[in-house]
Amino acid sequence: MSKKTVKDIDLKGKRVLVRCDFNVPLDENGNITDNTRIVAALPTIKYLLENNCSVILCSHLGRPKGEFNEKYSLKPVAKELSRLLEKQVIMSKDVIGEDTKKKVAELKQGEILLLENVRFHREETDNDPEFSKALASLAEIYVNDAFGAAHRAHSSTVGVAEYLPAVSGFLIEKELKFLGGALENPERPFMAILGGAKVSDKIGVIDSLLEKVDTLMIGGGMAYTFFKAQGYGVGNSICEEDKLDLAKELMEKAKTKGVKLMLPIDTKIGKEFKPDTESKTVSWTEIPDGWEGFDIGEKTIEMYQEELRKAKTVVWNGPVGLFEFDQFAIGTNAIAKALSELTDATTIIGGGDSAAAVKKAGLQDKMTHISTGGGASLEFLEGKKLPGIECLQDK
Ligand code: 3PG
Repeated sequence: MSKKTVKDIDLKGKRVLVRCDFNVPLDENGNITDNTRIVAALPTIKYLLENNCSVILCSHLGRPKGEFNEKYSLKPVAKELSRLLEKQVIMSKDVIGEDTKKKVAELKQGEILLLENVRFHREETDNDPEFSKALASLAEIYVNDAFGAAHRAHSSTVGVAEYLPAVSGFLIEKELKFLGGALENPERPFMAILGGAKVSDKIGVIDSLLEKVDTLMIGGGMAYTFFKAQGYGVGNSICEEDKLDLAKELMEKAKTKGVKLMLPIDTKIGKEFKPDTESKTVSWTEIPDGWEGFDIGEKTIEMYQEELRKAKTVVWNGPVGLFEFDQFAIGTNAIAKALSELTDATTIIGGGDSAAAVKKAGLQDKMTHISTGGGASLEFLEGKKLPGIECLQDK
C-alpha cells in the first residue's frame, strides 16, 4: 500500500514537524565529513518553505543514551543546513523543553527551527507515549523523511504519528520507489551483489533475495563461510563455523529456486590485518594456512563484471572486500565501476558501507539511487515492514 506524501495533504501555512535522519558522520573536531543525509532532506524542507509552513525539524545523532552530551549536539547540522539553504536555521537548546516551546511559539511561517538531538531523552528510544505527545504538540502535521531511521520504532519516528496526521517526505517516497520498485517489479535480469563480513548479518537479505533475483553474487567476508561449507580450508579468513549448515541450505535454496548463486573463484589474501601486509591472489580452493582472505580476486572480478553486463536491475549491499585498505579495495572499486558503466540498467546501492565505497570511488552520480539507509535498507531488502513507514497514512 503506498503512503501519503506531503503532496497529498493540505499543509499550507501550517506548523509541520519533520523527522529527518541527520545522523551524519563527524570528525574529532565536530566537522561533518559526509553531508549526504542533509542534502537528501532538502527537497522536503524546501517544499514546506514554499508552502509557507513553519518548519520544525528533529533528528537523532549517534547514540547518546538518553542524556545531554555536547558531542552529539545537532549544532553542526544546523550550521550545514543553513549553509545549504542559504537561510537562517534557528536551533533550540532542548527537545520538548521551555526553550523549544518558546521558539516554536515565535516561529513564523517560512522559518525553520531545528530541535536538539531527540535521543537526549531516553523516552525517545522507549517510544514513550507522553514524550511522543509532547513532541506532537509542537505541530499540526507530522512528516517522516528519516528513511535511515524508519526501522526504529521510536517516539519521533512512530509515536508522534498517533497524535498528528502523518505523511512521508520526498526522501522516503524516493527510497520506496527505488528499493521497493526493485523488489516488487524489477526489470529482468535482476541481480544482487551482497558483501559484508558475516553471513549471519545477511541471512535475512540472502533468503529474501533468493525469492526475487535471477543472479546473486556473493563477496566479502561471508564468502569464506560458503567456501568452508563446501569442505575447503579458509586459513585465517573470517568464517562462521556455526553457519556452515545455513550456507549449505542457502546454496540448496538457490538451486531449488533456479537462482544463479555466484561465489568468488579466487581471492586476494594477506598475511596480517594491516594495510601494507604481504598479499597474493589464490584460487578459492587453495587458501593456505596462516593467510587471510581480504578481497575477491581478478578472475572473480571479471566473472562478476561479465554477469553484470546482462543486468537490467542491480541491488548492491556490502563491500566485497576490506575496502578500507587500498590493496584490498580493488574488488569493491571494480564492482562500483562495473555498475557505473551499466547505462541501460537501474542500479541501486543499498546504503551503509557500499554507499561509502561508491562515494570514495567518486561514482555516486553514475548510480540510479544510493539509499541513505544503512540498517533500514537492509531490513527493507529483507522484506521486513519498517515501523516508521507503516505508521504513515495510506494513500
Ligand atoms: C543509521 O545511521 O543507520 C541511522 O541513522 C540509524 O541509527 P541507529 O542505528 O543509531 O538507530
